[in-house]
Amino acid sequence: MSTTYRIAPSILSADFARLGQEVRDVIAAGADWIHFDVMDNHYVPNLTFGPMVCQAIKPHAVTPDGRPVPLDVHMMVQPVDALAQAFAQAGADLISFHPDASAHAHRSVQAIKAAGCQAGLVFNPAAPLDVLDWLIDDIDLILIMSVNPGFGGQSFIDSALRKVEAARRRIEASGRDIRLEVDGGIKASNIRQVADAGADTFVAGSAIFGQPDYRAVIDAMRRAMA
Ligand code: DX5
Ligand code: ZN
Repeated sequence: MSTTYRIAPSILSADFARLGQEVRDVIAAGADWIHFDVMDNHYVPNLTFGPMVCQAIKPHAVTPDGRPVPLDVHMMVQPVDALAQAFAQAGADLISFHPDASAHAHRSVQAIKAAGCQAGLVFNPAAPLDVLDWLIDDIDLILIMSVNPGFGGQSFIDSALRKVEAARRRIEASGRDIRLEVDGGIKASNIRQVADAGADTFVAGSAIFGQPDYRAVIDAMRRAMA
């Protein structure tokens, strides 16, 4: 079965002084999704951006021929629900959250979907996948953290590969079409290993936005997975 791989550059490493152009450029270079790393300096020790930036970026998240590109909002925030609704209003297409950041993860998933967005759950490096026992039939995305959330430019945590394999087994057992995304420390040099473990969607921040030629990096990532 051929897998459709998706590259989701994280704007965390983009030039915030020219964010709209950065989004257009990385999409023109072949990005499939735009990954928003939302941090509240409470759930994680860093602070990034809110729904207003999502709303401002939305019109720029288009391919050169005008097709909209999904905004993949990763919320590293606590609490979850009110901000998820605000991101839904601001144009998010997918909203994922850390289940340990919600008092009622099932209700948070329901609310995200009721707002018209696809819902995802995010698992930190030491977090078990157990909550999927009760939520896998309700979600569209599983996001496995291969670094501890909060900062770009960190090194890939190898134990994430075993968790990707376990998540892939759960997806196959569910029979549902769920995206399996990995976030943190992904480069052209290790993306094949992550794909072989079962991932189909890849967040990359510093590997892309830190480079002079976005297309060269994205093409190298795709070649590594061919
Ligand atoms: C961590 C962030 C980073 C970011 C990717 O909270 O979620 O993982 O998206 O950063 P790089 O690709 O630079 O590791
Ligand atoms: Zn992320």
